[in-house]
Amino acid sequence: MSTLLIRHIKTLVQAETNLRPFVKGADMARLPVLNDAFLLIKDELIHSFGPMSDCPDTADRTIDATGRMVFPSWCDSHTHIVFAASREEEFVSRIRGLSYEEIALQGGGILNSARRLQAASEDQLLEGAWQRLQEVIGYGTGAIEIKSGYGLSLESELKMLRVIRRLREISPIPIKATFLGAHAVPTEYKERRQDYISLIIHEMLPAVVEENLADYCDVFCDKGFFTVEETAQILRAAADYGLKAKIHANELGYTGGVQAGIAAGAISVDHLEYTGEAEIAALLDSHTLPTLLPSCAFFLGIPYAPARRMIDAGLPVVLATDYNPGSSPSGRMSLVVALACIKMKMLPEEAIQAATINGARAMELEASYGSIASGKVANLFITKPMPSIAYLAYAFGSDLTETIILNGKIWGGLDSNK
Ligand code: NIG
Ligand code: FE
Repeated sequence: MSTLLIRHIKTLVQAETNLRPFVKGADMARLPVLNDAFLLIKDELIHSFGPMSDCPDTADRTIDATGRMVFPSWCDSHTHIVFAASREEEFVSRIRGLSYEEIALQGGGILNSARRLQAASEDQLLEGAWQRLQEVIGYGTGAIEIKSGYGLSLESELKMLRVIRRLREISPIPIKATFLGAHAVPTEYKERRQDYISLIIHEMLPAVVEENLADYCDVFCDKGFFTVEETAQILRAAADYGLKAKIHANELGYTGGVQAGIAAGAISVDHLEYTGEAEIAALLDSHTLPTLLPSCAFFLGIPYAPARRMIDAGLPVVLATDYNPGSSPSGRMSLVVALACIKMKMLPEEAIQAATINGARAMELEASYGSIASGKVANLFITKPMPSIAYLAYAFGSDLTETIILNGKIWGGLDSNK
């Protein structure tokens, strides 16, 4: 057994003795913290924490965290980090005046990424995704969900999901995999959409399940992509195969996507830039989590989801990066936390809860990740010296992560081993 002791922690953030599976409404502002604290790690697990007056005398290794804070690692529950190429040419087209939907209609966007992914080998995709995974670990992410959806053919969707499986084998952090065959309708199916949906239901889903490649099934239920009826059809088939839903909804309009996700018992409905009273009421009456992706709204210049109204109504808001080459080419959770505060009027405490324990819940990982608690996996980061918790959101351009601890060990940076 090996022990690691962190002493003189200025503030130990999200430290709990009574485990909360997730946090909602007014409780989101009540972030549990302990000042002048110690944290003891045994092997890969958090053993105990408390005030410095109770600090153990010795450990195999000791870190002095004077002036620094300790946070549980970020839990990023929505990403698309397996892709073949960046798309900055579309970014420039949008600067010149085209919209995201117009670019998609012209065969750009997701279809552009699909063409490039189909031409890439599994090894090439793995290399790119591995670099991105290490990049986000360096930003403090300690659990992540990754979607397919740039394959859009049986072979290429399986290729993406196998890349995610290989990533999982080498990753020091847990990865959940989501099958997103219904990300866009491929051009050759434009006039026969139902044939593509049949391909998803009768060929892709059985193959994905046969190889045990996915934990969840996603659909881009939105204007110009999949209708609520098509979404329901796909999610019903997924449920028959034992895959829970986790969907993209209401990014481009009031489509009924949120309600379709709830009706399918989705773990989460994600995006929600177009959310009104009907969507909030439906969410309040469900177990589905609303996941907001402010770096996507920021990058595309679309409205931000009404996080303030959601929390005031009593909902448990989740924050994630949506890291992907088209709508959010950033996997930095601390930027998401800052944007949530700056643009969506979330309090820093609320944003931190949304990016840790609620993110863990949106991946069904809350029993082992998302907070500092005895028995949870020791995935956490020590900050640079900081005056207050709010500073983390306020200093939106700074990288305040100083030391990363994964599975109870100090993570050595890019290309360090498991
Ligand atoms: O979450 N909205 C749908 N899917 C991704 C974007 C994919 C892309 O543009 O490549 C998203 O924003
Ligand atoms: Fe997404």
